[in-house]
Amino acid sequence: MPEHLKAAVVYYSSTGNVHALARAVAQGAELAGAEVRLRRVAELAPPEAVASNPDWLAHAEAARDVPLAELTDLTWADALLFGTPSRYGNMAAQLKQFLDTTGGLWDAGELADKALAGFTSAGSPHGGQESTLTSMYQVFMHWGAILVPPGYTDPVVEGAGGNPYGVSADDGGGAGPGEPALAAARHLGRRVAEKAALLRRTPAGTPGGTSVGTPVDARAAGSLGGLS
Ligand SMILES: Cc1cc2nc3c(=O)[nH]c(=O)nc-3n(C[C@H](O)[C@H](O)[C@H](O)COP(=O)(O)O)c2cc1C
Repeated sequence: MPEHLKAAVVYYSSTGNVHALARAVAQGAELAGAEVRLRRVAELAPPEAVASNPDWLAHAEAARDVPLAELTDLTWADALLFGTPSRYGNMAAQLKQFLDTTGGLWDAGELADKALAGFTSAGSPHGGQESTLTSMYQVFMHWGAILVPPGYTDPVVEGAGGNPYGVSADDGGGAGPGEPALAAARHLGRRVAEKAALLRRTPAGTPGGTSVGTPVDARAAGSLGGLS
C-alpha cells in the first residue's frame, strides 16, 4: 500500500460561511480515505476592524484553534482545496497574501501537478461566486496545478445551484450555507482527493505506448486502494 493519501483544506473566513464549507470539504476528502489538514490563513485586518463586527469577532474566537496554514501544508498534500469569501468578485486579501508567499515553491516546481479546486461564499446568490473561484484559479494555473472542478459529476452540484467551477454558496441570510451547498462541498473534497490518488498512483505508461488507457487499466487491476 503506498503512503497515505493527503489533502490540505486551506481557507479564509471572516464570519464563518467559508469555514462551514471548509469543514464539509474536509469531510469529503476523508471519505476518499485521505488524511486531512484543515488550515486557516492568518487574519490581516486590524483588531479594531474585527471587533467592529460582532459576527467577525465571534468567528475569530470560535476558529482560534484551527491551525494557521503554512507552506509545508502545500508541499505535504497530494490534494489541495482552497476557500475564500467573495470580495467584490475576487478572493479575499488574506488568502491572496498567503498565496503570494508561494513564489519559492512555485519556482522549485513544488506546486505543479497537485490536484486542486476551490470553494467560496458570497452574500448574494449571484454576487460574484464564479469570478471569485476563477480569481483563485488564475494562481493555480500558473503553478501548473491540475484543476479538478466539479463539473456536473454528481446531482448534488445541481442541487447546490449548478456551479461547475467549484463549490459556491450564499450566506443564507445569516444562517450560513445550507445542506445542498454542504453536500456539494463534501462531493468536491472527495472528488479532488480521488483524482489526487489517481495522479499519484498511476504509472505514466511505457515508452512508445499510450498512457490514455492507463487509469482504467490500473483501476481494473485494483491498484487504486479501493477508491471509486
Ligand atoms: C469587503 C467585502 C466585499 C464583499 N463583496 C461581495 C460581493 O461583491 N458580492 C457578494 O455577494 N457578497 C460580497 N461580500 C459578502 C461576503 O462575500 C459574504 O458575506 C461571505 O459569505 C462571507 O464569508 P465568510 O462568512 O466566510 O467570511 C463582501 C463582503 C465584504 C466584507
